[in-house]
Amino acid sequence: MVISVTMTRISLLFLSILFTFSYHSQADLIGDTCKKNDFPDLCISTLRSNPGSMTADVKGLAHIAFNATLVKATANLKHVNELLKKENDPILKSCLLTCAEQYADALHDIPMGVQYVGSNNFEAASIAAAVTDEARSCEEAFTENNRKCPFTPENDVVRHLAGVVAGIISLLR
Ligand SMILES: *[C@@H]1O[C@H](CO)[C@@H](O)[C@H](O)[C@H]1NC(C)=O
Repeated sequence: MVISVTMTRISLLFLSILFTFSYHSQADLIGDTCKKNDFPDLCISTLRSNPGSMTADVKGLAHIAFNATLVKATANLKHVNELLKKENDPILKSCLLTCAEQYADALHDIPMGVQYVGSNNFEAASIAAAVTDEARSCEEAFTENNRKCPFTPENDVVRHLAGVVAGIISLLR
């Protein structure tokens, strides 16, 4: 009886040490993964906001970051399409059309990028770079026409998230 109580205590102690250890090592994995990223804060907040990151390896973290980019790019395309419906200025309309094309490309590219993570990291990285370019091209459609883009912060989020993805993938190569 005395022995089994002691044994239970020892195993509880052991389990809590193990749990603490694995919890910390996962926190360290996210920290280490984001440390050298171009956007370390965005990297950490994006990964931490997804519960799946608690058990993910670096490949899984790249997947999570790609998914987060897809969510924001999808929202941007929806926003662009809403603006297009009510825009009458032909120049602004053409800028928005460029953005619609660029974000449609991004929505097509990102799932392919996800597929390549782990199997062809070079291709996955070039897709992350393409998504960066797509968000930038949307923004430039406005600046080249001396117009103010009505959603610059949202373009920046997609551009930066694609940078987060590229940084994580560079750890896999
Ligand atoms: C990424 O998104 C897809 C589609 O929504 C989902 O099936 C998948 O589980 C997500 N992956 C991760 C790692 O969150």
